[in-house]
Amino acid sequence: QKTWHVAVLPGDGIGPEVIAQATRAIDALVAADPALAIEYETFEWPSHAWHEKHGESAPADYLQRLEKFDAILLGALGDPGPADDPNRYLLSDAVSLSPLLEIRKGFDQWCCERPCRPMKGAPQYLADERANDIDMLVIRENSEGEYVNQGGRMAVGTKNEIATQVALFTHRATDRIIRHAFEQARVRAAERKAEGRERSFGRDGKTSQVCVITKRNAQRFWGDMWTDMFAEIAKDYPDVATHHELVDAACMKFVSHPWMFDVVVASNLFGDILTDLAAVLNGGMGVSPSSNVNPSDRSRPPMFEPTHGSAPDIAGKNMAGPTAMLLTTAMMLDWMGVEDEAAARAGNRLRDVVAADLADHGRERRATDETGDAIVAAL
Ligand code: IPM
Ligand code: MN
Repeated sequence: QKTWHVAVLPGDGIGPEVIAQATRAIDALVAADPALAIEYETFEWPSHAWHEKHGESAPADYLQRLEKFDAILLGALGDPGPADDPNRYLLSDAVSLSPLLEIRKGFDQWCCERPCRPMKGAPQYLADERANDIDMLVIRENSEGEYVNQGGRMAVGTKNEIATQVALFTHRATDRIIRHAFEQARVRAAERKAEGRERSFGRDGKTSQVCVITKRNAQRFWGDMWTDMFAEIAKDYPDVATHHELVDAACMKFVSHPWMFDVVVASNLFGDILTDLAAVLNGGMGVSPSSNVNPSDRSRPPMFEPTHGSAPDIAGKNMAGPTAMLLTTAMMLDWMGVEDEAAARAGNRLRDVVAADLADHGRERRATDETGDAIVAAL
């Protein structure tokens, strides 16, 4: 039997409150199934709260310390600072990147998956009833693109100032993310078939689809590289339909008819933007989970964090909904579930319990720990 070791990082704002419900759920799942073994250790970093005490958001060797764990479960990161000193953290931390990006880079978590499938009881922002059929998975390239942070500022502060910000795309990273998208399309088609809810894409009725996002009408070089590689890789997946959207048109279609998408694969920045939009289709940040994984090297710890931020305005008030955090925890269990049947069962169980809770109580204003109580009781 495998014992999973998880590093729990509560982070800032509502992070500690929502993650407390996640660890309670893990405890309940472990107590209910002798075949499931998960141990976790909690670290107060990286966070701005830690920064306040120690003058840095994490110990210098924090990545080495996290490397030993099988997985990282993170609440939320980021804090605008106290109201009377709103630039407190900007002065020190804004010059470096978010620790979230350091962790993604440090463990080569090159794939970010953000599923979009509205659940009953979640807020519904679209009036069209086909919105109930939305079922897509946005796969975000998580290692390069517009996030490499190469470039610089020249003649800073003068009227001649120039800033450059390079977007970098390699064959290696593009190939692995596009292939992964096609693989996930197949997995999803198989799942739908098993559940008797097949879908049909394109003229020849394929059972899944991958849509690639670019802005190649304005950014030719990487846009052409992505579409060329996409067409080439698609030949290895003749059973999967293909589609291309420019990112601006994709934004429009995510709102006008999002039910037409299946798997969507996008660059780092476009994926970032599209997944905030997709989160609204789910019912908002409060119900949108997310994973950062390295599918080609399972020995590197993945990180599971909700799409939402630290929501400092409601922090410490026992008000934040823990649903996104709990669904994120289910994604972690799914990831473990590839090697561990008990974890796979636990992931499905947690997702079912959260879905049932949302259907019954999604429209109520509940305290954070009240939702946690209900989840624990059901588990
Ligand atoms: C996200 C966030 C991060 C990102 C920020 C905090 C750097 O918006 O996880 O989507 O842009 O990736
Ligand atoms: Mn984002």
